[in-house]
Amino acid sequence: MKHILTIVGARPQFIKAAAISHAIRDLHSHELAEDILHTGQHYDDAMSGRFFTELDIPMPRYNLGVGSGPHGRQTALMLSGIEEILLNNRYDGVLVYGDTNSTLAGALAAAKQHIPVYHIEAGLRSFNRDMPEEINRIVTDHTSTLLFAPTQTAMQNLRNEGFDNKHAIFSGDVMLDNVRYYISRLQPAVNKPPFILATIHRDFNTDSPQRLEAILNALGDLVERFDTDILFPVHPRTRQKIDSMGYAPRTTRIRTVAPLSYLETLDAMRQSWLVLTDSGGLQKEAYFCGRGCVILRPETEWVEIVNAGAAILADADGDRILEAAARLKHTSPSSPTQFGDGKAADTILRHILQ
Ligand code: UD1
Repeated sequence: MKHILTIVGARPQFIKAAAISHAIRDLHSHELAEDILHTGQHYDDAMSGRFFTELDIPMPRYNLGVGSGPHGRQTALMLSGIEEILLNNRYDGVLVYGDTNSTLAGALAAAKQHIPVYHIEAGLRSFNRDMPEEINRIVTDHTSTLLFAPTQTAMQNLRNEGFDNKHAIFSGDVMLDNVRYYISRLQPAVNKPPFILATIHRDFNTDSPQRLEAILNALGDLVERFDTDILFPVHPRTRQKIDSMGYAPRTTRIRTVAPLSYLETLDAMRQSWLVLTDSGGLQKEAYFCGRGCVILRPETEWVEIVNAGAAILADADGDRILEAAARLKHTSPSSPTQFGDGKAADTILRHILQ
């Protein structure tokens, strides 16, 4: 029996970890046992707790309760907490997901103790080192033992950085596993006019008043131009910023709500005609659900979605956002074969066990 420690901390990681936990439970429970460590990076029920219940993820064995803070301090607290747990227990490997500070801390703590690190969603690059996530990805990849790439582009990035096929493995994307699994479990959709689903949470959008204002103005313009409603679930970081600038939506057709759960997000996606976001996860979920996506960033790691014509980079530029929406209105993208076969979690576990 092998024992692995799964390290999570931020919302997108709970979602990815669900796919792996289910595959362990359903396919490998006789040979693999998992403990979950939650760093506490996200702590509000809306950002953390309810994902465990809704997605049926085992409750964390450890919770470091680190909370929010500047990058260095937040990462340092995690590193020290994870190290102590790894020193006092025997794990055969550590699983980390994506590119948050929790990912970085988990990979570093384990690598320093010569414990194999398995990185899920490896090889993504925006080639923009101003993003904290880009630093986290690079360092995590270069301290990992097995690197599970969700796409061939990610594989190529890893090859370019010197990884061979023994270490870098194309697994497909666990988020496709999830969308396929959960979409069939949603209640039938309520019949109402399709709307735009919009989210903003990246620091370069929320922490720049100019960019944030341009995006918020574009929301008002989209309502007028396309005679549409907009559902705008607001991340806590964004909530602080828009409250402090006194933002009130131009029209009641822009509905600002608390962050949605995973199933609520899929449901909203299904009822939308367009997605507007700076989130990486939502870009993919939009593609998997056949919705066009306006990306509120100058670049993306998920280039295959842009190349497929299913998403358009519009940065924080009002005109480009409107133009992208007009172009995407009549496309209905699908066939996400570049993201694997929907069985990425099992592929990953088989490689780890080997
Ligand atoms: C983090 C990840 C980002 C990921 C995002 C998903 C890093 C560097 N960034 O960004 O890659 O896309 O998670 O959401 O790890 N806050 C709350 N309640 C919470 C959590 C956060 O109010 O439960 C507020 C705090 O004011 C905090 C701010 O949100 O300072 C930012 O939280 P933080 O975890 O530092 O980064 P995210 O922006 O969520």
